Amino acid sequence: MKLVYAFLLMMGALCLYLSMVPFKEFTFVLKKDQGKFLQLPDVDCKQKPPFLVLLVTSSHQQLAARMAIRKTWGGETEVRGQHVRTFFLLGTLDSNNEMDAIAQESEQHRDIIQKDFKDVYFNLTLKTMMGMEWVHHFCPQAAFVMKTDSDMFVNVGYLTELLLKKNKTTRFFTGYIKPNDFPIRQKFNKWFVSKFEYPWDRYPPFCSGTGYVFSSDVASQVYNISESVPFLKLEDVFVGLCLAKLKIRPEELHTKQTFFPGGLRFSVCRFRRIVACHFIKPQDLLTYWQALEASQEQDCPAF
Ligand SMILES: *[C@@H]1O[C@H](CO)[C@@H](O)[C@H](O)[C@H]1NC(C)=O
Ligand SMILES: *[C@@H]1O[C@H](CO)[C@@H](O)[C@H](O)[C@H]1NC(C)=O
Ligand SMILES: *[C@@H]1O[C@H](CO)[C@@H](O)[C@H](O)[C@H]1NC(C)=O
Repeated sequence: MKLVYAFLLMMGALCLYLSMVPFKEFTFVLKKDQGKFLQLPDVDCKQKPPFLVLLVTSSHQQLAARMAIRKTWGGETEVRGQHVRTFFLLGTLDSNNEMDAIAQESEQHRDIIQKDFKDVYFNLTLKTMMGMEWVHHFCPQAAFVMKTDSDMFVNVGYLTELLLKKNKTTRFFTGYIKPNDFPIRQKFNKWFVSKFEYPWDRYPPFCSGTGYVFSSDVASQVYNISESVPFLKLEDVFVGLCLAKLKIRPEELHTKQTFFPGGLRFSVCRFRRIVACHFIKPQDLLTYWQALEASQEQDCPAF
């Protein structure tokens, strides 16, 4: 009987040990300052500190989306009396033609941030961290930063208004908060995460990667801590892990929902009172923008 107890005890200890091993032995950790910037935007944050910098993750084939954003919300530089700028985040491809096309686009628009890492979907964490690094090195004078995607509508004016009203300028992080999400363990799911990548059953609170906003000090702090946080290919969860370590809790920007990662049907009055909406095709973005511009005099019912 004693032997059985001893055996069970040993098995228990072994299980406990194995459950703790993965992070120490198997996980890969990001190295800061790796690779060099290949393209940098034309901006002098020291001379003219932006109130808000919008960083848009983009890929080489999304030229139409970038052009639509430049013609709409990304083209605005003065909003509610505040200076705002929009830049695109890109990695590299093997094809020289495509690299040349990006270099040319960067020369023309001066709004591309590119570093030397392979531009594939599951390098989105590297792309996001490149944005954090860029803010840390080149634009810590900005008050706020938004990280968003190429298929988004962003109401920069309303966001600016809400940020001014909120008046929280350090350790601030907001977006569509996922307070209690968990890893998907089905192998064939796009967002499958193995127990080796992430051994726990819950993610810390994080904001949907479709659009989140933070005070610029958070960029430096996340960049700084990123080396000591186990790497995860899901960029929004990875940022959530960094925030948890920094003890920064994502908080609401407004009492009403303003971030819509699941999309939202367009109407002028509705889109005047949201910050971000997902699943917007380039052509729709142009159409919606025209409708919003053309109806500036129109009153909307009070909420
Ligand atoms: C991400 O980029 C790095 C650096 O270029 C590359 O070594 C790695 O294979 C890429 N990741 C994926 C999933 O392709
Ligand atoms: C913003 O907050 C600071 C203190 O953190 C305060 O001094 C200032 O008056 C506030 N501004 C507005 C417009 O509420
Ligand atoms: C960066 O992180 C280290 C610990 O990882 C900490 O000691 C240091 O104060 C941090 N620096 C900044 C600027 O946050």
